[in-house]
Amino acid sequence: MARHLITSAIPYINGIKHLGNLVGSQLPADLYARYLRGRGHEVMFICATDEHGTPAELAAAKAGKPVAAYCAEMHDVQAAIAGGFRLSFDHFGRSSSPQNRALTQHFAKALADQGLIREVTEKQMYSVTDGRFLPDRYIEGTCPNCGFDSARGDQCDNCTKQLDPVDLINPRSVISGSTDLEMRETKHLFLRQSAMKDKLAAWIDSKTDWPVLSTSIAKKWLFDGEGLQDRGITRDLSWGVPAQFPGAPWAGMEGKVFYVWFDAPIEYIAGTQEWAEKTGGDWARWWRLDQGAGDVTYTQFMGKDNVPFHTLSFPSTILGSAEPWKLVDYIKSFNYLNYDGGQFSTSRGRGVFMDQALGILPSDYWRWWLLSHAPESADAEFTWENFQASVNKDLADVLGNLVSRVTKFCNSKFGPEMPAAVAMTERETALMAQFRDGLAAYEKAMDEIHVRRAAEELRGLWVLGNEYLQAAAPWSVVKTDEAAARGIIAFALHLIRLYAVLSRPFIPDAAQAIMTALNCDDWSWPEDLDAALTVLPAGHAFAVPENLFRKITDEEREDWAKRFAGRRE
Ligand code: MF3
Ligand code: ZN
Repeated sequence: MARHLITSAIPYINGIKHLGNLVGSQLPADLYARYLRGRGHEVMFICATDEHGTPAELAAAKAGKPVAAYCAEMHDVQAAIAGGFRLSFDHFGRSSSPQNRALTQHFAKALADQGLIREVTEKQMYSVTDGRFLPDRYIEGTCPNCGFDSARGDQCDNCTKQLDPVDLINPRSVISGSTDLEMRETKHLFLRQSAMKDKLAAWIDSKTDWPVLSTSIAKKWLFDGEGLQDRGITRDLSWGVPAQFPGAPWAGMEGKVFYVWFDAPIEYIAGTQEWAEKTGGDWARWWRLDQGAGDVTYTQFMGKDNVPFHTLSFPSTILGSAEPWKLVDYIKSFNYLNYDGGQFSTSRGRGVFMDQALGILPSDYWRWWLLSHAPESADAEFTWENFQASVNKDLADVLGNLVSRVTKFCNSKFGPEMPAAVAMTERETALMAQFRDGLAAYEKAMDEIHVRRAAEELRGLWVLGNEYLQAAAPWSVVKTDEAAARGIIAFALHLIRLYAVLSRPFIPDAAQAIMTALNCDDWSWPEDLDAALTVLPAGHAFAVPENLFRKITDEEREDWAKRFAGRRE
């Protein structure tokens, strides 16, 4: 039994995430966590909401709520939706927790003690009316490139040009609309990442088994252009982890907080501390090399836009602290999922959002489609046609149909209990040989976190069961040899239990429905395949389950395609 620490990139607090966000981090992380637990490993799976920064402040202002109250509310909303998707976090924390505040300040001080923090004075836009400095996103004006009148200080949403607030024509404060803006001096803390460059490069170079997506992005930032730059880790904001605190090795940072990307990954650790406080568990054995974390395997999941922060920034914090913290072992990153000929867009409400998805169909349908089409080697695309085809074929026709035929046939011919097994014929022996190979391939894909391939291998195992049943044809055999027909059904019912165990990481609810129907609670992984075929004794009562999956009709598909084409209501 090994120990696995798993984290998913923590979603921003503002708003409900779309399916593209889900498949890029939380869902595959959940798949892996469930798989490892299924194989008997000890798992710590942590996620949280990312609550600081300007997007949170702006969203709260838009909702007309104090930011702390807004975050508390949205955290509960996101936690409930995560539950709806059966995301099996050991803890779903909050980056605004007291634990994260203390730990973020601790890391900042440790970095300063190592000489890795420098103070920089720069000029920034100040709003006299609002009495505060304005971050780029708090400034709007006319785009110098296309004339769009609501371009943001960092970017024009109309022509996508990257901007500097000083480029804007007629800049104004987003908070008050005031145009009484001026440049003022302000002091910030910079993390001397450039001093860490060689260490980081050697570390990345040693990760030869990582997805190329992870290492190539890291190398681009390390070596392209002027190479890795020092990075400002404070902002002129009030919502966040205060940069001035008792024992801080600097002065004059009142009214400033740490940059959201500095404190957010620290929440992986702080979230484990939150878990420990809640459960009485020991967080340090997961994170401190001096307290047992040396034999932990740590895997992170994220979309490609998050890779620089996890390959360079957060490791700079960890390594730079010179304290014995656990560093990530494997970074699994994902490309983007597109939506029906374009992009998912949170700002334009385009695509299917997590709450809407659950309003249409149960989570297993989404989990199966998303994971079996995960954007691993390239961007992927969600289309309603493809979704309908996958669900109807893989889930309804293959798995669902097999479960239903076997249990119904048994129930009507022999009654609702396990028939007696008989000696295997050549047909079963041949099936077992194929199954063994397929299972090994499935396990390998899961061990290597090849999500799509794992889904394919699992589907292959389902198909084997279907083909077996078709060829063994117990409905014909029963006419001439009832004992043999009973034997076929006993074998098939055992296969169905195996499918529940093996499919659980992908479709946990259906797996549970199968197990409940089989009146069984033995989830043990089939390390010994032959033994797994004798778990249910003859006479063991079972029930015919409700239809596991229903088909998606053409009318529904067309209706949904229309409903989600435009603006989110
Ligand atoms: N909130 C960020 C996003 O959604 C991810 C933060 S991941 C962490 O892109 F490392 F900062 F925690
Ligand atoms: Zn523009």
